[in-house]
Amino acid sequence: MARTGITSQQLQDHVKRLAEEHPPIPFDAVDFTVNDPDAVRTRFGVLFDYLARVELEVERNVAELDAILPHPTPEDLAFYRGVWFEQEMQHGRILDRLKAELGLPPAQPLTVVSGPVRALGAVAHLGPIRDVVRCVYYFTGASTERQAVLAYSALIERLDEMDERALVDTVIHPIKRQEPGHFAFYSMSATKLVPELKPWQLRLAQLLRSRSYELVGTHRDPVYQAQMGRVSEVLGFGQDPHEYAREIGRLEARLLWDNAHGMEYPPYVLKAIEESRRLAEADRAA
Ligand SMILES: [Fe+2]
Ligand SMILES: [Fe+2]
Repeated sequence: MARTGITSQQLQDHVKRLAEEHPPIPFDAVDFTVNDPDAVRTRFGVLFDYLARVELEVERNVAELDAILPHPTPEDLAFYRGVWFEQEMQHGRILDRLKAELGLPPAQPLTVVSGPVRALGAVAHLGPIRDVVRCVYYFTGASTERQAVLAYSALIERLDEMDERALVDTVIHPIKRQEPGHFAFYSMSATKLVPELKPWQLRLAQLLRSRSYELVGTHRDPVYQAQMGRVSEVLGFGQDPHEYAREIGRLEARLLWDNAHGMEYPPYVLKAIEESRRLAEADRAA
């Protein structure tokens, strides 16, 4: 595979730019005025609950990264500890405050690092495995950030229709603006790393992604998976799961799978989407 020319310096510059251009959103820049709280709560309650929880789980994510990246590159560390953590925490705090304004209970983010992650951390000390783990981390991050951008974009469209100007302009749009820079970090990092991997490392990364792929915040828990199914219905992603799979799996299909046999997205992405929809439907029928 050809070298891509992405350098550590470019990654460091990108992280520096993110820090300069995207400081955590200050609370006093947010206007929590909601014109029709009942309508917003009824229509988007499940969504705000999901988004607030997932954003606040960044605390757990950072603990996981400390476990699985025992020797992080300077760029990784500068990104996830120096920039990403505080931005995402603030997204979570703002969304949680919005929930309170709407009369909804506080989010309950998971805080404990899971067993499989700790196991991965134990082998991540081995040099050749380290890069495989990093590769998995970048694709997990890229998929997560794409899901965030798509969710916030769709939410903006719907709140626009309801003319909830303060919510759009001072809450959701400022949050959404910070997500593409995160995606770019993972995309650039994966673009740099994948061509450096040996064939066995690439195959192991493919295997790990195939076995462990999950939609953001679902944690292999049918309750969260069903919630995610409901969230995607609220946002209108349920109508075309293939298109949604393409949106969140395109980068991975290209970089990790080299678009083998015309692959537009890895099959496990669609499987995860369909499973969450199935569980949401089962919930409704119960
Ligand atoms: Fe976020
Ligand atoms: Fe993000």
